[in-house]
Amino acid sequence: MPTIHYTDTAGSTVDVNANVGDSVMETAVRNGVPGIVAECGGSLSCATCHVFVREDQAEALPEMSEMEDEMLYGTAVDREDCSRLSCQIKITEDMDLHVTTPETQV
Ligand code: FES
Repeated sequence: MPTIHYTDTAGSTVDVNANVGDSVMETAVRNGVPGIVAECGGSLSCATCHVFVREDQAEALPEMSEMEDEMLYGTAVDREDCSRLSCQIKITEDMDLHVTTPETQV
């Protein structure tokens, strides 16, 4: 089963078993993981689902769309090379993904 590990800026981690086809954002919201607001519900118009993907895993993810790239310039905490919008990361079979949530989303 895919697993997503969400770590906050204080270093606490929540490990969540995820369903294939859901997004990393949906998985967080459904499981009450703090640190992901997801105001727009995943329609790529809020940038409050910003996460930092562990660097060695960021490159292995499918490339972001132009729209996601643009939206990442509007995050509350500045984007980094490993920044993604978690509503755009789809869970795949055997995914074992580590993400860190930013200090704030708004
Ligand atoms: Fe709004 Fe991801 S939930 S952009």
